Amino acid sequence: MKEKIIFMYRAIQLAKKGLGSTSPNPMVGCVIERNGLILSEGWHYQAGKSHAEVNAINMVKDISLFSDSTLYVTLEPCVHFGKTPPCVDLILKRNIPRVVIGVRDPSYKKKGLGIQKLKEYGVEVIENVLEDQCRFLNKRFFTFYEKNRPYVILKWAQSDNGFMDYSFNNKKDRKRFWISGIYSRQLSHKWRSEEDSLLVGKKTVLNDNPKLNVRKWFGKNPIRIILDRNLNISTSYFVFNGEQHTIVFTEKKKENKKNIEFVQISFDKGIIKNILNHLYQKKILSLIVEGGKMTLESFIEKNIWDESRIFLCYRSFSLKKGLSAPIVDGKILKKVDIDDNDKLIIKVPF
Ligand SMILES: NC(=O)c1ccc[n+]([C@@H]2O[C@H](COP(=O)([O-])OP(=O)(O)OC[C@H]3O[C@@H](n4cnc5c(N)ncnc54)[C@H](OP(=O)(O)O)[C@@H]3O)[C@@H](O)[C@H]2O)c1
Repeated sequence: MKEKIIFMYRAIQLAKKGLGSTSPNPMVGCVIERNGLILSEGWHYQAGKSHAEVNAINMVKDISLFSDSTLYVTLEPCVHFGKTPPCVDLILKRNIPRVVIGVRDPSYKKKGLGIQKLKEYGVEVIENVLEDQCRFLNKRFFTFYEKNRPYVILKWAQSDNGFMDYSFNNKKDRKRFWISGIYSRQLSHKWRSEEDSLLVGKKTVLNDNPKLNVRKWFGKNPIRIILDRNLNISTSYFVFNGEQHTIVFTEKKKENKKNIEFVQISFDKGIIKNILNHLYQKKILSLIVEGGKMTLESFIEKNIWDESRIFLCYRSFSLKKGLSAPIVDGKILKKVDIDDNDKLIIKVPF
């Protein structure tokens, strides 16, 4: 059993290399073991490219070595023809006698279709090795198939005394102002590169004119999502620069031009569910909500969130008044010091 765990840990490590590039597919890692040693490794590095099992199997030139090998994979191998042929068929073709699986594929509604086929052809299958870790690895993918919506992360920065913005009377008073420090902001850009989409409310765009892209890290930009009932944001704002796919939810029009899509919905009590349903239909697996207060609170009130990431910023110039930050109740998963001023608190729902 101990050996199985070591190889599955390694497979999880490999799978994580796909973070930010495999969606709408899951992150998957695979290790092929023979006589207690690693014969080969693979991971799924991009949607549309070959799966982890295929990458690991194709690394081995002498196919006779498979006959006494074990394949470890974080997620049940696929049986369907998608953009690539089924992994189960390749495992059978190479006569691999044992397969150790982290967790069943939720997109098969836990029927274990891949497992069934392997067993039918005489392969020994061991399931649920490091199951919780393998599930956590693909928290976005599991949420998508089990809750029929994207995985939702709420993120904001607040001062030590609970403000997320200083107060200003009119737009002319507005100065560029950062609550969090450079390392927290860099981390936020890394997070953006890991998610499919990023949402903000209208006032955040009007007040801050954010670009909502990945600049302080590397990786792909998320799809920008803006809530703007009456289309008050003019096209001179960065969110309309066309450099990134952008979806505006509005009551005013339906239009799809180049990279900018206007989706007409009603701004009523069901707005959050309707937005998430729209993203689900588009196979968007995750959403990071970056503010402002009203937008974040809409998700909190409906209790539709999976993680909140709050930067608590103990800077020398505590804000004396301003926009109070949302309050979210949840179990603290992590507390980390980012630097001398900023602390990160990650919560999950109770
Ligand atoms: N510290 C941080 O981490 C952080 C992050 C982001 C923003 N901020 C600050 O937050 C401030 C803005 O926050 P805010 O609360 O005033 O505004 P906001 O959440 O940015 O935008 C609010 C607007 O978004 C739309 N909206 C959001 N949720 C909605 C819902 N459930 N139903 C209908 N419409 C919804 C509405 O647009 P319509 O008016 O068109 O109906 C609403 O007026 C900015 O000054 C910004 O600097 C701070």
